[in-house]
Amino acid sequence: MHAPTLGSLDVLQKTLIRVDSEGTIISRHQSGTDDFESSLAHAHQCDALTSMGCDQIMIPGLVDLHIHAPQWPQLGKALHLPLQDWLQKYTFPLEARYSDIEYARCVYSSLVNSLLANGTTTAMYFATIHEEATTLLASTCLESGQRAYVGRVAMDDPEQCPEYYRDANAKAALAASERSIHHIRQLSGNSTQLVKPVITPRFIPSCSNELLQGLGELASHKQCHVQTHCSESDWEHSYVLNRLAKTDTQALSDFGLLSRHTVLAHSNFITEQDMQLIKQSGSGIAHCALSNSYFADSVFPLRRALEKSLRVGLGTDIAGGHSASMFSACQHAVSASRMLEAGVDTQLTQDKRGQPGSRINYIDAFHLATAGGAAVLDSPTGTFDVGKQFDALLLELNTPSNRLNEFVDTDDWESLLACIVYNAQACNIAHVWVSGRSVKCEQTR
Ligand code: GUN
Ligand code: FE
Repeated sequence: MHAPTLGSLDVLQKTLIRVDSEGTIISRHQSGTDDFESSLAHAHQCDALTSMGCDQIMIPGLVDLHIHAPQWPQLGKALHLPLQDWLQKYTFPLEARYSDIEYARCVYSSLVNSLLANGTTTAMYFATIHEEATTLLASTCLESGQRAYVGRVAMDDPEQCPEYYRDANAKAALAASERSIHHIRQLSGNSTQLVKPVITPRFIPSCSNELLQGLGELASHKQCHVQTHCSESDWEHSYVLNRLAKTDTQALSDFGLLSRHTVLAHSNFITEQDMQLIKQSGSGIAHCALSNSYFADSVFPLRRALEKSLRVGLGTDIAGGHSASMFSACQHAVSASRMLEAGVDTQLTQDKRGQPGSRINYIDAFHLATAGGAAVLDSPTGTFDVGKQFDALLLELNTPSNRLNEFVDTDDWESLLACIVYNAQACNIAHVWVSGRSVKCEQTR
């Protein structure tokens, strides 16, 4: 099953998918055709056939568009605090620890293993300000076979960044970011650029204007992806308005940081004009519904963005979000959209409570977590179409602890997908492939 376009599910029954040694899907054959029979016979002869059982479903690998790798040890911690206090009291002290490369090694191998076990075949990571630990995160992804986008975090503004955890100044931050791009691109074993560097100003409040301007120039000079937080909360959005007298989106655009290679996390408070700017630049949005319920003071107008043809995917935003599972990100995206649609204040009458037409459903969420996220990155993944890289999950529907198809009629594919999106767990993920390489198999389940 895959969802190449928003809102529709495509089921490929009795289909043979041929993958070449580079991991590219080179053809797809439907049972009953001559091609199917000859390709099947050939695969048998070469001992190159993986066949699926009747309680198994294959779906594209999941794409996490926004995750903070160093925050893995603080899942669920202090989420009762406002964003700015959570950052200062918990997150910056934790991230500062990654000057210790052994600590980084321990956390990053645990994280990447867990994400692959949860079916995340592509992740776009914030690392920390440390070059060595950032390169280590990139090499950990590469060795484990995870497709990844890894950014050394840039943050130099003494007003918002503590002395123990910030770049010394804009020049030093720019030099470190440039070196980090180089190190990741040059990693041994990265000739196909499975792991790519990302220019990562943490967010406008933590960066000086000089740094933001310099990173914009670096992005166009190096033809590099960019990621940052955009208009996340009332506090953050107002901070930027006060400092620069414009919205995050306008400011990022003026600093040269909005392009087709940019991913904006959250973007909850974007205006109509901001939406136009984002659309014109081709930048994408990482919608992080779970984290928004703690830090955003709002719900992202997802349906409105989709109707304007903005490019959107989903993110876990660990550890603003407390789950590594992209199925969980789908669930929260659906329920947040339903609350936005219906409204939440029961003191208001129903007609005044919500924003009609805001909902998405589980098929939309499934699309956003696969093809949608991949499209934001212009990554040749996310569907089983010919020419794409084979990034895929083999789901075991009927495990002893979680029986996803127990009460679903055979051939009721939409109900089965609903069960998967709403209930699948890591124990249901039997195999994971990235570019045709097996990166998780049953023994590690
Ligand atoms: N804004 C700046 N840094 C962060 C972070 O680490 N998490 C979240 N959710 N928002 C941020
Ligand atoms: Fe974040």
